[in-house]
Amino acid sequence: MKTRFLKTTGQTRQRNIRLAAKLIHDGDLVAFPTETVYGLGASVYNERAVSNIFQVKGRPPDNPMIVHIWSLDQMWGLAESIPLMFWILAEKFWPGPLTMVTRKSDKVPAIVSAGLPTVAVRMPDHPVARALLKNAAVPIVAPSANLSGRPSPTMALHVLEDLDGKIAAILDGGSCKIGLESTVLDITRKVPVILRPGGVTREEIERALGIHVSVASPTRKRPASPGMKYKHYAPKAEVILIEGERGAVLRGMKRVADRLKKQKTVFGVMAERSARPMFKSYRFFSLGSTGATGAARNLFEGFRKFDHQKVEMIVCEGFPDESLGSALMNRLRKAASRRVRV
Ligand code: TXA
Ligand code: MG
Repeated sequence: MKTRFLKTTGQTRQRNIRLAAKLIHDGDLVAFPTETVYGLGASVYNERAVSNIFQVKGRPPDNPMIVHIWSLDQMWGLAESIPLMFWILAEKFWPGPLTMVTRKSDKVPAIVSAGLPTVAVRMPDHPVARALLKNAAVPIVAPSANLSGRPSPTMALHVLEDLDGKIAAILDGGSCKIGLESTVLDITRKVPVILRPGGVTREEIERALGIHVSVASPTRKRPASPGMKYKHYAPKAEVILIEGERGAVLRGMKRVADRLKKQKTVFGVMAERSARPMFKSYRFFSLGSTGATGAARNLFEGFRKFDHQKVEMIVCEGFPDESLGSALMNRLRKAASRRVRV
């Protein structure tokens, strides 16, 4: 199959978005940008197309997927009963990087939620995603548009790397603003549970609801969010994550880097731009200059870049585990084969 690369700037924008919507309607798969990461979309009501998503991604069949909508009316075709909490959070955070898990309606095919009685829904905040959803006029199922186990794509090029020739089209929307996947929040119980930390933080959700919100432990035997049990977000290289107070972290990274150099290991360093002078003689990938926000935006691109360079090890700076830093550290800790506290 030839994958069509569809631009969303200039005169072809409207035509390409309409074409993508038609492809989705016809049961084809189309990758599209969101503010978090690129998604691989299919019509929620087309079981064959949804099953193709599992196939082209190599996704384990027990991992359910997120349904994307552009208007709140679409909830009625997806959810069985909608708790009050939902409306409060939708009002506050949608469109945006928050996914809510509620009881699912029978209209949603079982394959979408991998047999679970629930469905995860999100209203993305990206003009291209919104235009596509509006034109398609059906909710769109979309996991991240990467091969299972690879870092999520934050640029159209990353999608091509993984899925060229396997899907009908890619809508190019440039780089994703947030760069990490959405927060997944289970609202089926009295106390909501964050199944996956992301762009909307626990503090923000607690403030909006005025109640305590818990966070699912990633080490539980049966994770509430099936996706969390898989080793995700990992580059091919081994990641050594150094955590602690910044000065100590950079000194620790330098020590590790010097040792790896002596051992003739092919390695790279990932840190905030300001650390570049310290690692002048090393392969360096900048995580930007805006703390955890910039690091979140650049992380997956860095993983992919170092993979291209056949780097065997990555020495990575850890960030404070707060706000967006919690989501960032969640991904980094999952990717890391070694964590060092300094
Ligand atoms: O930002 C995002 O969420 C991106 C963009 C494309 O929207 N999507 C994304 O999808 O990251 P995916 O499939 O890579 O991750 C979805 C996560 C998985 O951990 C999955 O297990 C969980 O959401 N999930 C989906 N449906 C669920 C459900 N009914 N109950 C619990 N967890 C669910
Ligand atoms: Mg994913």
